[in-house]
Amino acid sequence: MSTTETAIASAEAHSAHNYHPLPVVVASAEGAWMTDVEGRRYLDLLAGYSALNFGHGNRRLIDAARAQLDRVTLTSRAFYHDRFADFCTELAALCGMETVLPMNTGAEAVETAVKTARKWGYRVKGVPDGMAKIIVASDNFHGRTTTIVSFSTDPEARADFGPYTPGFEIVPYGDLTAMREAMTENTVAVLIEPIQGEAGVLVPPAGYLPGVRELTRERNVLFIADEIQSGLGRTGKTFALDHEGVVPDMYVLGKALGGGVVPVSAVVSSADVLGVFRPGEHGSTFGGNPLACAVALEVIAMLRTGEYQQRAAELGDHLHRELGLLTGGGAVEAVRGRGLWAGVDIAPALGTGREISEKLMEEGVLVKDTHGSTIRIAPPLVISKEDLDWGLDRLRAVLSAR
Ligand SMILES: Cc1ncc(COP(=O)(O)O)c(C=O)c1O
Repeated sequence: MSTTETAIASAEAHSAHNYHPLPVVVASAEGAWMTDVEGRRYLDLLAGYSALNFGHGNRRLIDAARAQLDRVTLTSRAFYHDRFADFCTELAALCGMETVLPMNTGAEAVETAVKTARKWGYRVKGVPDGMAKIIVASDNFHGRTTTIVSFSTDPEARADFGPYTPGFEIVPYGDLTAMREAMTENTVAVLIEPIQGEAGVLVPPAGYLPGVRELTRERNVLFIADEIQSGLGRTGKTFALDHEGVVPDMYVLGKALGGGVVPVSAVVSSADVLGVFRPGEHGSTFGGNPLACAVALEVIAMLRTGEYQQRAAELGDHLHRELGLLTGGGAVEAVRGRGLWAGVDIAPALGTGREISEKLMEEGVLVKDTHGSTIRIAPPLVISKEDLDWGLDRLRAVLSAR
């Protein structure tokens, strides 16, 4: 057996099979490139589902982590530490908001948003106890906890994990009328992704997001934007909602906030909304730890320059222009997305998304399929135009060879 085969067999023998990875075993990575255990190089067009917006081994982020490793890494929230205030202040400023509640993973931040909205509903809006409802969209992806899968419409994510958490109303994504009709006096929040990533990079119809903003404001309902995958530069702006000039009541952030180094997530909102929590009502041992804050502070400083957003916008225009040319030839049925983020529907006759991903892997390009024959392209924002073009050439080669 090759080194790769041995490593995969051993991993499969000793880990739960809750993923179906491509058969590549990564040993090191830098920028937009990964190297496997046999020395083969691959262009990373997935970027850890946007957790690696600043690329692998980003010098500034690694240096920030290293410096913090030598000082203090964990205090728990039983004590203050000297990076915490800066992290909260800077993240709130980046979001144009007041208050931050740090957690670790995206799902934890979504859970935090759900708890915040419910408590706000009871304490501020005056919803009768136990009656709070949160409106979510079909085909959403917000994580994997038992509460979050309770409002998933994906049978794979949901089946066999009941009993499910009540209190969620699912309406079709992009349908403002359905959302309006689903709203009652007990609705405390709308929780949506401004662009649905896992669903295949679905951009909602023009006017939808401003419409959600208007409707939620009218009905005294919190607009919670899950920007865990769409936020922090990916779409060519700091937040995907910025494209529509929309400011939500609450951002839910994760992935790129940890710079691909450590898990960092957060809910960011007004002092009124996050002010509903009292000591002991919510928390996390690792949330807001010194190492996480040090790395995230560097991420925020990098985003404050606007250079990564601009890069994503410029290279994103190029990416979408090139992918658009493929739609005329029959191999590609549709391309969606914004900035350096694309969902590409391959003609099913050419293979499943998985088969196309495997072919691309053989050509030295790593992507991830999603439902059916769709692949997602989301390179690190630091990718060079030459490397992106090389990756697109490999895609064209795979599509024309089949
Ligand atoms: C929009 C969105 N929300 C939440 C999550 C969950 O994040 P995590 O995997 O860090 O729990 C994801 C992960 O893909 C996501 O894309």
